[in-house]
Amino acid sequence: MNRLKSQWKPIVVSLFLFCLLCFSGRQADSWATTSDPKAIAPAVSLGTGLLLEPPLDLSWVTKATFEAWMETVGQDKIRKEWTTPVVPLPELPPSSPNGLTHVEVKGYMQRAKQMFERGQAIPVSDVGLISTQEDVIRQPMLNHISAFANSAARVYLLVQKTASDQDWSYFSIVQDMTVQPPLDYYAQLFDSEVRFEGTSCYACHSSGPLAIHPAREDLIIDPKLASALSQFIATQPRSRFYFPPDSPKPDMGGRLTLDACTGCHAEDGDRGPLYRVHSHPIRVLVDFGYMPPGEKLSVEQIDELKAWLLGGR
Ligand code: HEC
Ligand code: HEC
Repeated sequence: MNRLKSQWKPIVVSLFLFCLLCFSGRQADSWATTSDPKAIAPAVSLGTGLLLEPPLDLSWVTKATFEAWMETVGQDKIRKEWTTPVVPLPELPPSSPNGLTHVEVKGYMQRAKQMFERGQAIPVSDVGLISTQEDVIRQPMLNHISAFANSAARVYLLVQKTASDQDWSYFSIVQDMTVQPPLDYYAQLFDSEVRFEGTSCYACHSSGPLAIHPAREDLIIDPKLASALSQFIATQPRSRFYFPPDSPKPDMGGRLTLDACTGCHAEDGDRGPLYRVHSHPIRVLVDFGYMPPGEKLSVEQIDELKAWLLGGR
């Protein structure tokens, strides 16, 4: 009996190890996934009449113009080889059991900026749809977006400028994963300080980081990376938004109750409820067919949404 056991032992142990390997391989795969991320669909306005301004004409922007713009950030910083879209950060033990301190959050943001500047990030570069289409900007908004993570934090860096700006600006989101639900911090990064922002980010980011939506199918460097990064973003748990004391929660306006949206955008949904303060991304995401995902609203539903957007509170 004992002999039998000892004969089987190595086999059982190696089977166990093998399964463990398969399992951890799978887990890593869920965001390493070079497998076959869905291609990025061209952004085409459905002509719903929801937009306040006609879709911005980008026909004058060639792929070469776009690439030349993007390269002004430094050629050594973009077009990276990658196997996983998220750069691992060393594990830093949190100093408090009650969540990351503001100093730690800002430290993560500065570290991401530093890694980008040293060419250690894996950025996806695009002309984003939502800010480009925005009525106040109305010109190509150039984005380099990269992600970093350890078990305590998910860190996102956005290096951004409009086509006519000289200099690139730095923005960051840090999700504190050590608290439940996670808490999201937003900031603009300057040479001398990291400044937390609330209201100015909330209109579009009320439920955290957003998927990559290029304004045109070809105004993007590495669409596969963008899909993989969007997949990683989609795995985020529902989080809360940190409002710094000097940038408190804005006036929300009435809540959107359209059935086609509240299945996901609800108090207990995957994303938070939507309010009038979110009108701009609502107009753009619905008009370009991104929301609701994989579905098309009927004429009646669009009319209902239009009436809500036009209506009082
Ligand atoms: C007008 C809507 C809008 C506003 C306002 C806005 N963002 Fe974004 N942001 C986006 C969109 C859309 C993306 C994805 C862009 C793309 O497709 O390249 C994005 C991407 C990002 C990313 C990269 C991670 C991600 O979500 O994909 C960071 C970091 C970021 N924004 C920070 C900020 C900060 C900080 C503020 C406030 C100072 C802010 N944003 C305000 C729309 C907005
Ligand atoms: C099947 C679930 C689902 C439905 C239904 C849905 N959304 Fe979303 N929505 C998402 C997800 C996931 C994101 C974040 C991914 C992204 O940025 O594309 C999102 C993001 C948004 C955002 C950006 C703010 C945020 O919550 O992140 C707006 C605005 C939005 N959706 C509007 C709508 C509107 C309007 C409808 C109804 C016409 C709708 N959505 C229906 C899943 C859904």
